[in-house]
Amino acid sequence: MKTIQVKLAKRSYKAICGFGVIKNLAREIKRLNLGSSAYIITFSKIKNRYGKHLVKSLKGSGINYTFKVVADSERSKSLQSCFRILQHLARFDKNKKVFIIAFGGGVIGDLSGFIASAYKRGIPYIQVPTTLLACVDSSIGGKTGVDLNLGKNLVGAFYQPRLVISELSFLNSLSRRQVRAGFAEIIKYAVIKDKLMFKYLEANHAKVLGLDKQALGYIVNRCVRIKAEIIQQDEREEKGIRTILNFGHTLGHAIETAGGYQKYNHGEAIALGMILASRISKKLKLINQDTYLRIVNLIKLSGLPVQIKGLSLKKILAAQYRDKKFIGSVNRFVLIKDIGRTIIKRNIPLGIIKDTLGIPSSL
Ligand code: GLY
Repeated sequence: MKTIQVKLAKRSYKAICGFGVIKNLAREIKRLNLGSSAYIITFSKIKNRYGKHLVKSLKGSGINYTFKVVADSERSKSLQSCFRILQHLARFDKNKKVFIIAFGGGVIGDLSGFIASAYKRGIPYIQVPTTLLACVDSSIGGKTGVDLNLGKNLVGAFYQPRLVISELSFLNSLSRRQVRAGFAEIIKYAVIKDKLMFKYLEANHAKVLGLDKQALGYIVNRCVRIKAEIIQQDEREEKGIRTILNFGHTLGHAIETAGGYQKYNHGEAIALGMILASRISKKLKLINQDTYLRIVNLIKLSGLPVQIKGLSLKKILAAQYRDKKFIGSVNRFVLIKDIGRTIIKRNIPLGIIKDTLGIPSSL
């Protein structure tokens, strides 16, 4: 078991990660005095498979609980779904001290965190991630949000969880595709901050993808540590430090949106976005061909997509210009100078973006 402190003054919290750590759930909740009633937001598959572990820890601790099951889809991150959950939560909350447990992947974490931030102007919530992507990335950091038709996470808040418990044995039932999606964010952490970890992944990608206990434990902890170090310096993305976490996300989000969240999952879209951002870095002569190919190869070796297929490139471009990372008409890209070293560039000419996407500049 590893515990990483996310140090954010009064909003500091522990991220506990390992095999068998879920048994500490009730003890940690009591230690933090989070409340007497747990409102657990989850998907039915997760509840059926792993709900018993939460129940076992909560039972006998004096904490009562209810499960709120939502549909397993990005569509659950809509304002309509949020409204329905808030009404249900308010009915559950009568005369109780309620807190939320986000029990699932990135969709559940973003949605639950946003609900926690808004209900009664903020109630505590904790993250119990059940996907690799959520363990290494979305459960940490406090960005919460829901989507509008015009784009992902357009309504949201910075609202930190009080605790994160990543039970790595929950990852065993993930599909290969879901594991690969998490691996895309792992590659992101290596590319933006850790050349040694990148080398490790080149040599050990099969072990991590095969959920080898030791490799998985090492990598999840490393990513959480990197993320914690970044957000400790720039919790609300005001200093341009946290921005580097968006490597691959500018075009990645556009690809995800253009595909209706179906064609490519978040990790697959980010893998494509990382390739495109690396290609722009190469075009601007920030990196050489070798560095570019190392990134493409690692993405390819892990079974993630390296080429956009079946999506209108013009649709991606349109979605990109609606992304909130575009301030006015000014675009902002996280690019790289080397593996482990980033640089933020604004106003990348449209011609270069089109060229990177393979759209003729006349269109
Ligand atoms: N919740 C994800 C983040 O803060 O980055």
